[in-house]
Amino acid sequence: MGRLDNKVCIITGANSGFGEEMTRLFAKEGAHIIAADYNPEILTKYKGSGLDVTPVVCDVTKEDQVKKMVKVAKDKFGRLDVLCNNAGINNKKPYRVHEYPVEEWDMLYNVLVRGAFLVMKESIKLMLKSGGGSVINTGSIGGFRATVGSTAYCSAKGAIRMMTTNAAAEYVKDNIRINSVCPGIFNTAILKGLQPDVLEFLANQVPMGYIGNPIDMAYLSLFLASDESKYITGQSILIDGGRSCM
Ligand SMILES: NC(=O)c1ccc[n+]([C@@H]2O[C@H](COP(=O)([O-])OP(=O)(O)OC[C@H]3O[C@@H](n4cnc5c(N)ncnc54)[C@H](O)[C@@H]3O)[C@@H](O)[C@H]2O)c1
Repeated sequence: MGRLDNKVCIITGANSGFGEEMTRLFAKEGAHIIAADYNPEILTKYKGSGLDVTPVVCDVTKEDQVKKMVKVAKDKFGRLDVLCNNAGINNKKPYRVHEYPVEEWDMLYNVLVRGAFLVMKESIKLMLKSGGGSVINTGSIGGFRATVGSTAYCSAKGAIRMMTTNAAAEYVKDNIRINSVCPGIFNTAILKGLQPDVLEFLANQVPMGYIGNPIDMAYLSLFLASDESKYITGQSILIDGGRSCM
């Protein structure tokens, strides 16, 4: 028996990193996955994997595309149990506030805040009809602590933290739980291209001494998606190798 047997899950940003790891793990645990990404590679990503994955091309910043993505869950399965609201991007380079290009600020907020809101909004509509559900928003340690040069990213992830708390309060009576997983530094595409000395510097900031593996994030999300966490809502849970303790 799987830990997510027959649960219908939408995972955004499913083409790489955390989204990919969650897709593979959740499907192995018995879930039906709607794997969404704006990268069209998603259409072939899981082909031949033997996993129950329905791919959807969806840009989370586009309301019509988000509605279509949720409609896939409704038309194919008639319900939605889990949302991993995970699609995201990071700053191209660091800027302090007075230097921050407005277009880059808007772009980050559009994906990280507005996109997460649109996906939650449409998914919750279907969860209400399904009798409940679990929403897992991907936040960040940046929503708790400063990173110099990343005011847009950190404040956007701070917004995810409060969106999680507030929405959890709004839907607690509807059997919809809303939590956030907040990673420190993990080995995903976001780190691609960094020089070995920079990676070593980053690893040295982590008390456990190494950069996180996406599977560890997927296991935390799996717990929050499953009924094992049924008494937990409104929480933003750090997963950071001890970084926030220091
Ligand atoms: N890797 C880290 O160290 C780290 C730390 C803290 C938080 N995060 C957060 O984790 C989440 C996942 O990032 P990741 O590290 O797996 O990176 P990633 O780049 O491997 O994955 C992000 C995925 O989101 C997709 N995406 C981006 N914009 C999109 C949009 N508008 N619509 C639909 N899909 C879109 C990308 O195509 C990609 O597949 C993000 O929200 C990120 O902010 C990552």
